Amino acid sequence: MTCFSRITGTGSYLPPRRLTNADLVAELAAGGVETSDEWIVERTGIRARHFAAADVSSSDLGVEAAKKALEAAGLEPSDIDLIIVATSTPDMVFPSVACILQNKLGIAGCAAFDVQAVCSGFVYALTVADALIKTGSATKALVIGAEVFSRILDFSDRTTCVLFGDGAGAVVLEASDTPGILASDLHADGKHVGILCVPGHVSGGKVLGDPLLKMDGPAVFKLAVGVLESAARATLAKANLTDADIDWLIPHQANIRIMQSTAKKLKMPLEKLIVTVDQHGNTSAASIPLALDVSVRSGKIKKGDTLMLEGVGGGFTWGAVLLNY
Ligand code: ACO
Repeated sequence: MTCFSRITGTGSYLPPRRLTNADLVAELAAGGVETSDEWIVERTGIRARHFAAADVSSSDLGVEAAKKALEAAGLEPSDIDLIIVATSTPDMVFPSVACILQNKLGIAGCAAFDVQAVCSGFVYALTVADALIKTGSATKALVIGAEVFSRILDFSDRTTCVLFGDGAGAVVLEASDTPGILASDLHADGKHVGILCVPGHVSGGKVLGDPLLKMDGPAVFKLAVGVLESAARATLAKANLTDADIDWLIPHQANIRIMQSTAKKLKMPLEKLIVTVDQHGNTSAASIPLALDVSVRSGKIKKGDTLMLEGVGGGFTWGAVLLNY
């Protein structure tokens, strides 16, 4: 009896329009918003991000990442029996991005749903897929993070609009006789709703309230550093492993300073920290699978490596997944 789940393929997709900090600084200046490459790099480590065209949605980005993950796993779309998409920027209020993406893959019938845990979405989705595989409800899952965060940015607010980008990452997670996912640890604390939110919503075809992202950056920073360490330690304890067993740390790619301070707390050399925030910005639920795929395809991450994936984001939500790749 198979009682484990394992990643057998990864994929990612970035929309072609890439803006360096210099490009963004120039665009914002035209709208009277002042920022600089120096400020963005020094405070966040971000040097570039990708923005999707106006008619491109999360499912468009997600399906391209999914196709690459399927190819890497040697599977056809028809082999998949579960699709979970982590996103906070869905194509519609409903149906889910997962259902729309299923149709774009040309398949029907398998379970498909979205998970909404903002930047922790991918670790939540991976944990749910792992549980469904371990209980025998699914055998071959597509787990995807896909976002068009550019749609919910306030381009008159320099404290947030320089931080985010669009993109998608995907993995195929399959039932296996040998352990892939070793342990996970998920949390949320809803009392922090106000420090990171999009307080508007759509009802009856109309936008109500303010549908753009609001963030108290320093408050998020402080919380993030603490919970990323505790989630990593809890996950290691569940798997009876220690800091020294981690080959690669893949935290949510929001800010290089948060990521480096987490690595230091886990006593990990910075060479073991996977960094793509410099090239992608913060792509929310897409950031972890994007970073994973880039590192797998560059040859950095190899079969058998032990990976710690960590998410933190609006909710407040946070969590970690420890796995043998
Ligand atoms: N360009 C130039 N100056 C700026 C900019 C900008 N883009 N943004 C802010 N400033 C200014 C501020 O106005 C402030 O100026 P003042 O001192 O004259 O008032 C100064 O820079 C410092 O601002 P702070 O907000 O204190 O800067 P900080 O060092 O905290 O960096 C940042 C801000 C980058 C947002 C940081 O707090 C951060 O990364 N927070 C965490 C974000 C995060 O991790 N999010 C993850 C979750 S995202 C999700 O779930 C969707």
